Order: sequence, then C-alpha cells, then structure tokens
Amino acid sequence: MASYGFFDDTHREYVITRPDTPLPWINYLGSEAYFGLISNTAGGYSFYRDARLRRITRYRYNNVPLDYGGRYIYLRDDDTTEFWSPTWQPTHHELESYTCRHGLGYTVIGSTCHGIKAGILYFVPLGESLEIWQLSLTNLRESPARVSAFTGVEFCLWDAQDDAANFQRNLNIGEVEVDDGVIYHKTEYRERRNHFAFFACSEPLVGFDTQRDLFLGPYRGWDRPTAVERGQSFNSIAHGWAPIGSHHLWLELEPGETRQIIFLLGYHENPDEEKFDPAGSLTINKRTVRPIIARYLRPENVESAFAALRSYWDGLLKSLHVETPDLHTDRMVNIWNAYQCMITFNMSRSASYFESGMGRGMGFRDSAQDLLGFVHMVPARARERILDLAATQLDSGGAYHQYQPLTKRGNDQVGSGFNDDPQWLVLAVAAYLKETGDETILDVSVPYDHRSGSEQPLYEHLQRSLHYTLERLGPHGLPLIGRADWNDCLNLNTFSSAPGESFQTATHRDGKVAESVLIGGLFVLAARELAAIARWRGLEADALRYVDEAARMEAVLLRHGWDGNWFLRAYDDLGQKVGSHECVEGQIFIEPQGICPLAGIGLHDGRAEKALAAVKDNLATPNGIVLLQPAYSHYYLQLGEISSYPPGYKENASVFCHTNPWIMIAEAMVGHGDQAHDYYIRINPSAREAISDVHRCEPYVYAQMIAGRDASTPGEAKNSWLTGAAAWNYAAITQWILGIRPTLTGLEIAPVMPTNWSGFKAQRVYRGVTYHISVERAGPGNSVSLMVGGRSVAGQVLPLPPAGQAEVEVRAVLR
Ligand code: BGC
Ligand code: NOJ
Repeated sequence: MASYGFFDDTHREYVITRPDTPLPWINYLGSEAYFGLISNTAGGYSFYRDARLRRITRYRYNNVPLDYGGRYIYLRDDDTTEFWSPTWQPTHHELESYTCRHGLGYTVIGSTCHGIKAGILYFVPLGESLEIWQLSLTNLRESPARVSAFTGVEFCLWDAQDDAANFQRNLNIGEVEVDDGVIYHKTEYRERRNHFAFFACSEPLVGFDTQRDLFLGPYRGWDRPTAVERGQSFNSIAHGWAPIGSHHLWLELEPGETRQIIFLLGYHENPDEEKFDPAGSLTINKRTVRPIIARYLRPENVESAFAALRSYWDGLLKSLHVETPDLHTDRMVNIWNAYQCMITFNMSRSASYFESGMGRGMGFRDSAQDLLGFVHMVPARARERILDLAATQLDSGGAYHQYQPLTKRGNDQVGSGFNDDPQWLVLAVAAYLKETGDETILDVSVPYDHRSGSEQPLYEHLQRSLHYTLERLGPHGLPLIGRADWNDCLNLNTFSSAPGESFQTATHRDGKVAESVLIGGLFVLAARELAAIARWRGLEADALRYVDEAARMEAVLLRHGWDGNWFLRAYDDLGQKVGSHECVEGQIFIEPQGICPLAGIGLHDGRAEKALAAVKDNLATPNGIVLLQPAYSHYYLQLGEISSYPPGYKENASVFCHTNPWIMIAEAMVGHGDQAHDYYIRINPSAREAISDVHRCEPYVYAQMIAGRDASTPGEAKNSWLTGAAAWNYAAITQWILGIRPTLTGLEIAPVMPTNWSGFKAQRVYRGVTYHISVERAGPGNSVSLMVGGRSVAGQVLPLPPAGQAEVEVRAVLR
C-alpha cells in the first residue's frame, strides 16, 4: 500500500507527503462567519456564513481533472521562463519536495522547485472576515533569483446556485475595482448588495488581472495562464464575463534570502447609506475596510493572529484529553474527532467536497445530533444553536428539515415531515443540560417557525416534540414514519417511479399506515430524557406522564417491534414487515438494534443482548457494521431510495458510520467493553490509515460511509467530513467506552473498556471544574469504585465540588 502521509500528533497536524492523494484530502478554515475549504493542493473555495447565498470564490464540483479552482500561486523563474505552482495544482509541474500540513483551522503547503523553496500558510484570523495567505520564499540557489509571483482566484457572483446556472444574466454583471494595489470584487454592489470582496497583497504590484479570459488566454485552463507564461499581467478590468483576482509581483532573492509576502482575501459589508465614496458615485467606500487590510498586511499582526488561533484550539481541546493504551483512540479523541465535531457544528451538512454548499443548509436532525460532539467545547454557542433550531420548529411540534444559515429560516427544499426530526431536539437539549446544568434555557421564549407572537418556552417546544409523535401513531400503535426517519432513504410513502423525482419530496401515499420502529425507540429515549429533566426541575406530574408514555411505547415495541432475534425496522404502507427474517432481502437493520437498547429497551430481558448477537452474526464486517443484510438487489417501489442504491453503497448496506456507535454504546451498556472497542477501531479513521489506498478518503476524519461487503469496492469510504459519525463516535468512545459521561447532576465515571487495558488517564473540564481522572483495572469487570481526593464516593456520579474549587482528583477502580 502506498503511503500518503503521517500523523504529527505533537503539532496536531496530518502531514501529506505527496500531492496525488487518492482523493483531495481537505481541511477547513474559519470558525465563525468566514469559512473556507482547502485541499492538499490548495483547491477549494470560501464563503461568508452561507455556502450557497454568499459564496466568495468559485469552485466547480465534479470537475475534470479533479479539484480545480482554488487559492493559487504561480512562481515563474524570469531568467528561464519556467513556471510552476508551489501547491502542485494547477500546473502539475513536478516538485522536488512537497508537504501539506493540515492543522486545526489552518493549512500549510510547502515545496521546493528549481531551488526556490516556498511555503504558504492559509488561515482565517479569529473574529475577522478574511483569510490570510502567508507566502514565504527562500532562494536555495547559489546565485540570485529573479522570480515573478502571480496569484489566482476566481470570484463567485455570490449566489453559488445562480452563478452556476444563469449565464445569460451573469456573464453581464461582473464588476471590479482596482485601487491602491487591492482588487475589489463588487458585482451587484451598485444596486442591491452592500458587500464586496477584496484581494490585497503586501508588496507593490507590477501588474494585475481581473478578467479571467485575458489572464488565462483563449482555450486555456488554470494550468497554463497566458499572463504567467509570458511573465506579464494584462492589467485587465472585468466588465461582465468572469471576474478574477490576480496579482503580479517581481521578486529578487539573493542566495539564502527569505521573503515573506502576505495576501489577504476577504469579505466586507458597508451600511446601506455609506456604500459609496464620494457619496453619489459608484465607487466603493473603503474607509472601514482599509484599516483592516492594513492591519493584516503587517507580518507581526499575522503572527499574533496565528498564535491566537492556535491558543483558541488549545482551549477547545483542553475540555477533554485522554491517555489510553491505544494510539488511535488518543489521536481521535484528543485531536481529530473533536476537530471534526467542531466542523460539523459550523457546516452541518452544507459544504464539503461531497456537499456542494447549495443543496443542504443546516439540518435539523443533523445539527441536533452534532451537538453531542461539540457541546462541551462551545456550550454558549451550543445554546444559541439549540434556540436557532427550535425557532424553526412548527406549531405541530414537527420541523423543517433544514435552515439556511444566512437567514436562519427553515425550508423544505430537501423535504419535510421526517417524523423523527422533533425527537432529536429533545436529545440535544438533554445533552446541553447534562453538560452545563443551565436550566434557564428551558424558559427561553422561542417562536415557532419564526412567527412573532407564537413564542413559547423552550420546554414547551420539547413537549410538543413528544406530542408530535404521540399524535401520529399507526395501525400497530407505532409511530408513523412520514417522509422517512433517521434513514432518509427508507421512503415508505413515496412510491416513486418517475425518473428524477426526489425521494425526499415526492409523496404518493397518505402516510397513515407505514410505521417506524426506530422512531418508536427514539421516542422512548426522548421521553425518558424529558421525564428526567422534568423531575430535575421539580415537575413531578410531567415526569410521571413521560415515564408512562415511554413505558406504553416500550410495550408496543416489544409486542410489534420484535422479530424473535432482533428488533424489526418498520412496517411499510402495505402493512408488511421491513427488517424481519420473513423478508426476502433487508432482513435485519442496524438502527433499531442500537437505538432500542439506548432507550433502555431489552436491557433487562435479554433482548438487547440477543439483538447485538444478531448484529455480530449478520452485520459486522472487518470494515465496520453494515446497515442491513441482505442488501436489496433490486428496486422495491414500497421502500424507496434505500433500494435504489447498488448493494453495499450508502443506505443500502454500506457501513454507515453514523450508526456504528449506536451499537458500540449498546455493547457498552450490556458490559461488553472488548466488543465495543473492537467495533470502534474498525471504523476509526486513524486505524484505517494503513489502508489508505482502499479507504481513499482522509485518514483523519470520519466519512459518512464505507462501502459494505456487497459492494464492488468494499472498504472504500465516501462523503467525508460532514456526518453524524463524528459526534456519535465521539460520544461512544468518550461517554460509554471511556465512560466519562455528563448527567444532569454531575459527571458520571463508568468505563466499559477492553479487558486488556490496565487503565487510562483523562482530564475533563466540566462546568468550570477540571477533573483529573485516573482509571485502573483491578479485575475483569465493569463495576466502579470512585475516590475523590482520596475519599471514596458512593455511586458513579461525582458530586459537584464546593464553589471555588477548580480542580478535582478522581481515582476509579474497575473490578
Ligand atoms: C442520501 C441521504 C441523504 C438524503 C438527503 C440521499 O440521497 O442517501 O444520505 O440524507 O439524500 O439529502
Ligand atoms: C445523511 C443525512 O444528513 C442524515 O440526516 C441522515 O440521517 C443520514 N443521511 C441517513 O439517511
């Protein structure tokens, strides 16, 4: 197997050592409003808040060759006229050395070519709407070098979808200004926009270009721009067509000399009444943007912004740090899985190399689950996210499936009426309360669907979530599935036979028959969480009511949702079982075998263990646990999209990484630490690094799926980065296998770890207190005795220390 790189754990970087990775291996820049995606060859794009509505630079998905369009720099030896890109793309000129270091919120790409060493650090300073490219060039030759440097970015005309489709208009509207060496992209600023982009450089320019077709030349691509080839810009000003930003600099480097050059690409808004300067002109008012540009063109400010970014990440990652006997566990928990959770916090499912930034915004169910992985790092922002999600909830308790981050308004562009959606809100709020103890969130007044006058306390929203399910029960008393449940592709009411029809928006049945066992389990889980919250708040009557509803649903599940050896998956619109040994294909599904035990169902009557044994026998593979078996080999009208995928891919029996942790957690709940950790390692990205040629996606983050045993490419991952796999794997390993688990009343320590682990250490910041935890194994079991500061404590939940105490020493002994 080829090697493409290695983990540098000390610097918290993944170092890529050759540019031609199996797929672009990407990273993210930005943490609040200005974001970028960047690949190991500097491909990618940037946007402000919303990847669809405020796209700053253009990117062509599905392009040939792959990953064209990015943050490009060209170097040209002005003596020999040879030119290359220090990031390999877009010229593909051979490099003498190459590395790409993806770090937390930054990427450094470095190379040497023709005796010129180049390194480019890309990052977004905290609190700013701009990205920095800090280029450093060293002349390793024994003679002076005369080098031209060119930059190249292509501006997007803001709305990425319109930009990619509406050419009859868009090829006429592009506008730029070039002023004092700064390139401004200001399409539509004249009329209805108050924002523009800027592209600045710390060196005096010898030229620039803003018109793509002149810079590149007729019938040429980014690999061979005419301006670079001839060594001179055209000083073009774009009017319509395709605005770009390109600077041209001349550099003379003495032998051994190093030069730093800073480029800034940014986004800026002006108040409507101050858009122009002079007023009445059409010239951008640059009074407020100039000082920002000036600040970051100074190297000392770049250095300090970068240091601030590093310490921001130190702070976030400090909230949990572990030292276990397993390298892959440590690396993912301490660095990459936590990092990926923060990326899903920022992006939900909107923008990755598999999500175009146009199709999906912030998913309701997705963001609610992502919260499990980031709430301990950014509790205040988690609070805000919960309130944003709740404000898109409908009066019925149902939910829009997604919202656009720019407007925060819900929309049903990817469908609506997914009947599981509302339950995830309850689970998200429960996770927030367990982490923070901040019950004030329950009293915050939140509207339904942003309608003023409809405000109700968040607690009422949660109650409506439960009632939504109770008001939609089917013939067996199980929840009606609606459009689909967690599995977007189990479309039991769609009956779609029209080519191109969306499985998530079409409906050809009234939805009164098809039921979901998964939603049943999820309801029990959510109802038990809400009951616990109610009890904690002293609302005993509510608590009893939800305990009761949960018990009622549990009884229905045991009666109609149990197949003899595992939990059923659903009943379709014809009343037929889905996920039963009676089925020809799709006899067993993973989801209910995880979610039902998580809800406490089957834990005391042996059913959970039976279901888990069935998972092991039927679904577990060396690459992870597949979603169902046998895979659907042909299309079933009554099942929908799930059977549209070729066997082994996506929802049709791939290893859907989101669901594997449910099984890990269930295994931990029944006390099987070895099995839980074994499943964890099978899909742990770092553990799969050695088979990068098979896995193909980034070895430092989870992908949504790994092709299953029925696929023709088993083990091949797809859809990396934006997946609930990040949060759930994080929850499974940290809260259940390592057993460091927040509860409403304090931190619980209940590891269910592999039997051959002698112990581990952890530091966890919880409600402002740092817990130094050491776990020792004194016997093969999972029963825990806890000592705090040398004194033994009853039970598994650590009492909160007296106010003012910031550090707690915890010793846990397992027997
Ligand atoms: C995918 C799902 C996705 C859904 C909604 C389907 O094609 O398989 O994973 O959630 O589309 O976008
Ligand atoms: C991806 C979606 O983002 C998520 O919401 C869904 O649960 C899974 N696909 C499974 O279909």
